[in-house]
Amino acid sequence: MEDKLKALAEEARQAIQQAADEQQLEQARIKYLGRRGQLHQITQSIGQLPDQQRPVVGQLANKVSQQLDQLFAQRQEELQTQVAEAERVVQALDVTLPGRAPRVGKRHPLLATLDEMIEIFLGLGFTVVEGPEIENYYYSFEALNYPEYHPAMDEQMTFYINDDVLLRSQTSPVQIRVMENQSPPVRIVAPGRCFRRDTVDATHCHTFYQLEGLLVDESVTFADLKGTLEVFAREMFGPQCHMRFRPDFFPFTEPSAEIALTCIICGGEGCRVCGDTGWLEVGGSGMVDPNVLEMVGYDTEKYTGWAFGVGVERFAMLRYGIDDIRLFYSGDMRFLAQF
Ligand code: DAH
Repeated sequence: MEDKLKALAEEARQAIQQAADEQQLEQARIKYLGRRGQLHQITQSIGQLPDQQRPVVGQLANKVSQQLDQLFAQRQEELQTQVAEAERVVQALDVTLPGRAPRVGKRHPLLATLDEMIEIFLGLGFTVVEGPEIENYYYSFEALNYPEYHPAMDEQMTFYINDDVLLRSQTSPVQIRVMENQSPPVRIVAPGRCFRRDTVDATHCHTFYQLEGLLVDESVTFADLKGTLEVFAREMFGPQCHMRFRPDFFPFTEPSAEIALTCIICGGEGCRVCGDTGWLEVGGSGMVDPNVLEMVGYDTEKYTGWAFGVGVERFAMLRYGIDDIRLFYSGDMRFLAQF
């Protein structure tokens, strides 16, 4: 009888513990612990046992019954917690909510414009080089034939780190770095960030991008410069875009020309961006001054060259019809999401 009771206790324990839901648990309870359950049947037959066995088996039966009751209660609580947890998850997951579109990043309009500009020059056989944003005085001014007291070198215009180190205010120093390391022919464009102590307004920023170009070879003429830039402008803005060259001055070019393009925003009629002139100045250019070529050891009897430097923001403003340069640096998602 004792063995039977123990075997039954073990069987019931397993059934209770393995019950996967409340229904299975209830079945186990009925089978083992119910009024007509197996434990009850055994208890009822205790009366027929010999006298000395009765109390021992009786006590055991009581103990088994108590343990199983306890186990049952414990398992019941476990299952109820599981159900509650599952319901909580289901409630948190509302499948009727509208989907959330993931935010996808894209190229900034300024860099997208720069990519397009570079692409055109790659097609014309130029290669891309880059120079440091933190530059030496020598590459920034001296090697570019700046006279000793030029306003561009003034602290009013340039951010100095110390007497010799500064944030470049133009990409032209890259010309020197390239020519120092390479003999002609040279045909490069150099994109990059520049810095000036400008007061920020709709057309000026302390940080801006330039694209520099340099070509040095035998028999290079001013007509090559103008022709190349005209092809570039048309590729960029289409045949309705015209280019205007006006005499200008830069220490590192002679002769020098200011480059202006038809204001695409107003179609040359005059607007806020072009200051009602119909033209937008985009940069400077010219024939590389022989002094500069000599400084890097080029033979000026044999080689001539031209160079240009243009403001990328100006091109991006024309490209997208944007009338305030500050928008490019605002980080404003309402602005950026439009491109
Ligand atoms: N570096 C000049 C500037 O920032 C632009 C420029 C003018 C670049 C003439 C050139 C050039 O390469 O030949 O104002």
